[in-house]
Amino acid sequence: MSKVCSIISLWTTNNLFSFYFLSNLQHIFLLFLLKSERGLFFISKKGAARASGCAVERNEKNRETAKLHFFHAGSLNAKVILYLYILIHGHIDYQLLLFEKPKGRIIMFPQTRMRRLRYGKLKNMVRENTLTVNDLIYAFFVDETTSEKVEVSSMPGVSRWPLSKAVDAAREAYDLGIPAVLIFGIPKTKNAEGTSSYGDDDVVQAAVRAIKAEFGNDLIVITDLCMCEYTDHGHCGIVNFETHDVVNDLTLPILGKIAVSHAKAGADIIAPSGMMDGMIEAIRSALDENGFENTPIMSYSSKYASVFYGPFRDAADSGFCFGDRSEYQMDPANSDEAIRETELDVLEGADMLMVKPGLPYLDIVYRIKQEFGMPLAVYQVSGEYAMIKAAAEKGWLDEEKCFYEAMLSMKRAGADMIITYYAKEMAKILTEKSKKN
Ligand code: PBG
Repeated sequence: MSKVCSIISLWTTNNLFSFYFLSNLQHIFLLFLLKSERGLFFISKKGAARASGCAVERNEKNRETAKLHFFHAGSLNAKVILYLYILIHGHIDYQLLLFEKPKGRIIMFPQTRMRRLRYGKLKNMVRENTLTVNDLIYAFFVDETTSEKVEVSSMPGVSRWPLSKAVDAAREAYDLGIPAVLIFGIPKTKNAEGTSSYGDDDVVQAAVRAIKAEFGNDLIVITDLCMCEYTDHGHCGIVNFETHDVVNDLTLPILGKIAVSHAKAGADIIAPSGMMDGMIEAIRSALDENGFENTPIMSYSSKYASVFYGPFRDAADSGFCFGDRSEYQMDPANSDEAIRETELDVLEGADMLMVKPGLPYLDIVYRIKQEFGMPLAVYQVSGEYAMIKAAAEKGWLDEEKCFYEAMLSMKRAGADMIITYYAKEMAKILTEKSKKN
């Protein structure tokens, strides 16, 4: 019966209805009596309960504006009623509507009270999305220029880890049940070609080797693949200084080379973030040619030229000496472009996708998930981290709840994984929460 009601309310959400149900005999009787009624509805076989009914439509002043009859269209009774109706009225000047099985389940107040399910444990049972430790990827920085942990001033709680302690950084995440880490490197030396990015003993390669030696397959190691931390000009590729251009095609072979060096060191997943055209193709071929055809690529497929990366430049020491990255990263004004960018990466061989930044770009997360249905990571970037931290330090926001809500919202939008500097804290919060429930 309720399904029948829901169909009617779906049809006229602006009107107020009260419902009552009738036997077919009562119905026929009513039809004789009430000639001024407006609606006669036949409900399609598929959706409706085997009932007929009558709904009274009222306007805002609670005046009766119409009576709507509805029947199960497949039933013999319905046909009889229809014939009778024509017999009485001579014709049908009523709308005859056939409905398919209703998708919405809208029944109006007071039959429906949304608050009924918002209490106690029931609320947990009907929750549509959850955040778990398995969703988290812990991002951290390994710094070859220091022998002590150095706090990043614009990211309270985040440090650069000396290479000698890379395993400790990974262990902290591992011990909390976090399944994966994403590593950024800060090299001893930088030059225009970023040559310290692909040596077997360079910072990321050394860190990966040490971490994999310690944890083997128990911890997934993802490496950020970009040149900006390794070039003295701070751009994500080879620069033509006359034109101030980052030269796309000269950069591609270097990206391939870096990918192979990461894979050789033991990286489980390569995550290219440089936003060069054709980079996924170049990296996939380089990996395949070197026997790493089983190493997946997590592409930073929708990476926007975002001001929210500000604190990262302190953390990774990757500020640029001229211009900005808006000639290779995406324009924050665009959304269709993200579909094209991503499609190209998929065709070039990306195994996993990413949207970055996270919270200001949840519309993109939603679209990409809907469009491609592929494993999708969302990056909660340095600026998102810093904002919450700063507001919490001032006592304006509850830090833990704020991070939780932000990450849960990423899941709701379509994220499968969340890359975050707050992974360890969040793992603790989630473990506490699950104990309470
Ligand atoms: C490297 C890279 C950046 C970030 C991740 N990988 C910097 C940039 O693109 O400017 C930003 C991450 C963050 O802000 O947390 N290309």
